[in-house]
Parts: sequence; C-alpha cells; structure tokens
Amino acid sequence: MKELRDPFGRRIDYLRISITDRCNLRCAYCMPAAGVHWQPRPALLTADEIVRAARAAAGLGVNSIRLTGGEPLVRGDIVDIVRALAGIAGIRDISLSTNGMLLEKLAPALAAAGLRRVNVSLDTLNPHTFRRLTRFGDFERVRCGIAAAERAGLAPIKLNTVVIRGVNDFELIDLARLTLEHPWHIRFIELMPIGNTGDWGDGFADSADRYISVQEMRERLAPLGLQRTGAPAGNGPARTFRIPEAAGTVGFISPLGEHFCATCNRLRLTADGRLRPCLIQTGEVPVRDMLRAGHDIETLIETAVARKPAGHELWHNETSSTHNRLMCQIGG
Ligand code: 5AD
Ligand code: SF4
Repeated sequence: MKELRDPFGRRIDYLRISITDRCNLRCAYCMPAAGVHWQPRPALLTADEIVRAARAAAGLGVNSIRLTGGEPLVRGDIVDIVRALAGIAGIRDISLSTNGMLLEKLAPALAAAGLRRVNVSLDTLNPHTFRRLTRFGDFERVRCGIAAAERAGLAPIKLNTVVIRGVNDFELIDLARLTLEHPWHIRFIELMPIGNTGDWGDGFADSADRYISVQEMRERLAPLGLQRTGAPAGNGPARTFRIPEAAGTVGFISPLGEHFCATCNRLRLTADGRLRPCLIQTGEVPVRDMLRAGHDIETLIETAVARKPAGHELWHNETSSTHNRLMCQIGG
C-alpha cells in the first residue's frame, strides 16, 4: 500500500473535493448578500475529471473522500459522481457536507450510490433566525432532510454549527440537547475570519463582536456536565464530549487552533481543479489542464502534499489575509 506523507510526517489520506462553488443559500458568514461571481461552468471539473483525480489520489494512499461545495447537491450529476467514486479501489469512506436543502429528495439515491454519511450545517433551531442567517434557507426543509438522511442510513449524522454572538449563542444548550435523544454528533465551530468578514446587514453585530471562542462555548455549556469521549467515525478535528447518557456527542472545532494543523491529514481539490495544500495558506497546484489533456496527475498530487505548510499564519494574526478565495470556493 502506498501512502502520502507531507514534509512534517503527517499522513495525508483524506481528500476533500469541492464539486461546485455554487450554492442555493447565502449564509451571512460565507457569502456577501449580493452573492459571488460564480466560475463559468467550463471552468469546473467534469464528473469524469473528478473521478480520475480521486482515482489517482487513491492510488497514492488516499482512502477517504468528502464532497463539498458551495453546495454539492446543486450539481445535477451528484449521484453519478458518488457512484463512480464508490467504485474506486481503496476508497473506504465517502461523505458529503451539505446545507440540507436538497437532502430530503436526494438522500435515498445517494445512499444507494454508495455515500456513507453526511454533515449538515445547522446553525439554529429557530426558523426565523435560520432564514435571516442563510438568507434563502428553510429550516423545515433542512429538518426533513436530516430525517431523510437518517432513514436512508447515512450515519453517523454530524451537524455543523458556526457559533455567532447575537445570532445563535443563546441556543447552544438547546442545540447540544438534541444529542440526548438523537445519535447525532453536533460540532460547534468558531467563526473564522474568512468568507464574508464585512457588514452582515441589519440586526447583526459588528464583525469584531461576532466571534466566540471554544473556551467560552464550553463555559456556556457547563450546566450540561459534558464529559470527554472518543470521537465519532470520520476525519474530524473536533474535541468530543458527551452529555451523560446522551445518544450523540458534542464536539468543538477551533479551525484556527494550533492542534487543528498538527493532526491535519487532508488535501483539497477546488471546483476549478486546483489542489490546495491548506485551507488558509495558498500554494495551489493546478491539475485541470493536465486532466483535460489526458495526463496522469500523480506527480502533481505529490507536489501539493510536499507544499503542505506546518500550520497557517492565522494562528498569530487573525486579520491576516493569506486566503484569496471565499469559503464556498474552497469547500470549507
Ligand atoms: N467560519 C466558520 N465556518 C465556516 N464555514 C463556512 N464559512 C465559515 C466561517 N466563516 C463552514 C461551516 C459551514 C460549512 C459549509 O462551512 O461549517 O457549515
Ligand atoms: Fe452555501 Fe454553505 Fe456557504 Fe451557507 S455556508 S452559503 S450553505 S456554501
């Protein structure tokens, strides 16, 4: 078995593929209200190109793939992509990050095609707040989407909650309590200074006031008596806890925390066909033209792995802007 090691000895076995930069929502933390300038369609990798890139990565030791976006379910060929990826030798786990809006309709077909599990963004349990934050989202539809994913056996279900002061911070306890009855894994994520860092419009706090640290989240959840526990299946960088007797778990993700980088096992492929060694740092390796010309990209994958930095500069300087793309263009 081959394996990919970066210059710091980290084993890279997890590929995150953004299959589109388009999204049917406009979450305030991710995109400006006016939307973003989408890549022209021919710039995006085709299903065949995605599958060839994944096969090359699998041949080098990648065993786990996550599909992201934008919103991956807006791609008309999503089920075909999942089916083809599931057929690649060496790929043991295929998961998908979604906003859940199209999940009710697609969950059965995705599961049948070989998708193992989903992460669903769920920032609030309040339908009004949900609409305000996502600008087009419908809480009820996402709730039905999660239920459909569960019925289809897409387990374990992970929920991603970006915690924002003045928006959903007072819901932390209610969100965590979802895990009492449901075998879900909710992960509270620190708001990153990436994506839409400007004014979010009426009713939202200024950018300097929106951020809440993992430490503060844990203090606010203290009444629940969280106990440290093992992480659920997957590649998550979350520190995981459980409410005593709960069916699911509560995790915390500090994307800018140092430990996040220390155990990084991932490589990203952007929708327009660039291997990205790090979420934050640049140093992308374009592979689309090579794929289009029918060439192998194994060497380019090795180049991207060799370019992985030890960590990113946002540790030290939260306003640094080494990132040159929005979240929806990288895939989270
Ligand atoms: N801060 C933290 N997480 C973000 N995501 C997108 N933008 C941000 C941000 N600025 C993550 C969230 C969301 C997923 C699609 O990407 O987890 O659920
Ligand atoms: Fe779309 Fe996800 Fe960004 Fe929200 S966070 S706008 S659902 S890509």
